[in-house]
Amino acid sequence: MNPFQNTTIVLGVTGSIAAYKSAALASQLYQLGAHVHVAMTDAAAHFVGPLTFESVTHRPVLRDVLALTAESEIEHVTFAKRAQLIIIAPATANTLAKLAHGFANDVLSAIVLDTRAPVLLAPAMETGMWENPATQENLETLKRRGMFVLEPGAGNLASGAQGKGRMAEPNEIVGQARRILARNGPLAGKRVVITAGGTQEAIDPVRVISNYSSGKMGYALADEALARGAEVSLITSVDDLPVPFGAKITRVVSTQDLLNAVLQEMCGADMLIMAAAPADFRPASRADQKIKKEAAAELTIPLVRNPDILGEVARIRTEQPHAAPRRVVGFAAETHDLLANARRKLERKRLDMIVANPVPQTFGSDIVQATLLKQDGSELDLPPMPKAELASVILDQIG
Ligand code: CTP
Repeated sequence: MNPFQNTTIVLGVTGSIAAYKSAALASQLYQLGAHVHVAMTDAAAHFVGPLTFESVTHRPVLRDVLALTAESEIEHVTFAKRAQLIIIAPATANTLAKLAHGFANDVLSAIVLDTRAPVLLAPAMETGMWENPATQENLETLKRRGMFVLEPGAGNLASGAQGKGRMAEPNEIVGQARRILARNGPLAGKRVVITAGGTQEAIDPVRVISNYSSGKMGYALADEALARGAEVSLITSVDDLPVPFGAKITRVVSTQDLLNAVLQEMCGADMLIMAAAPADFRPASRADQKIKKEAAAELTIPLVRNPDILGEVARIRTEQPHAAPRRVVGFAAETHDLLANARRKLERKRLDMIVANPVPQTFGSDIVQATLLKQDGSELDLPPMPKAELASVILDQIG
């Protein structure tokens, strides 16, 4: 699900050096399928030329509060009505003051005053301006009226100083925009817990037992659930994938850590999707010091069983149904007898659905083949597809 597809977005650009990043933002929104109309103030046009935005959005830039459309309609009125989301990035201190006080003397402030669409502000300014009570009070006023504010970060500022006031990065702005657009999506109001990646079991201070799981499936599911409006808790053992904006992230290492995090996060959750590949065994003991090869010609490491997390969830679902998620989805990664093994796991772990994947070809790949098996006995055999697409089918099917 792509909440940006065919969505009309007005991107307001005001006079700050951060305006150069807005070209990347405009391009990203356009590539996501949005109809992007840039409205620039005169000050913004000193930093970046309108042609830059026209080139990436393929639409004329709105500059003049008195301009008419080709159909002789008042441009700012047309876009105030047509916009489904207004993003102002960068939003200067001056713009925040104007919006807080209801000015409408440029095309952007006129659109904002007239619109019923949600407004997302990404302020950018010097730290002194940001901290000034005038700015903070204006922001409070705008938040109270329902505008969304993506706080600036700390770092290098236009003046060369360091401090708070840097505009949020385009990726964050797109992530927050996605949350706003998805707020009435099919999973709005639902809490979804998703696990991702293979766990690691320590042998000694420098070695682990692990597996090839990349975490990509879990991250694709988190992205998809966010795009459908869910509140997402992502429990992950990987740190080399971009964090899905808006997800609550819990980092884990071992299967025991994962169990603890799942038990904590699943309280009050509507859905648990176990895309992680937890190690089933761990060394019976972890050596305190690095194991030296001179000590022996061969090395045998005794392993003990790790808890079965979905087994534990199944027990809780039976004994205290109110404390467990309404829907639980598992994965079955199998080298042989894929469907028979998957169905056994579906029953044993009391799942609503299991996603059966052949391994090793699934691990790390962007394209995946899967069969979905449900509690009611139905099977859905899917052709190979990108993990993002499979995530969408899984969420469609689990409902
Ligand atoms: N799983 C779990 N706890 C474990 C191991 C796996 O909750 N200790 C979950 C996985 O996240 C997955 C499902 O159980 O959703 C099936 O995992 P898989 O590794 O295929 O099966 P196992 O139960 O570990 O059985 P086996 O390794 O013997 O095939």
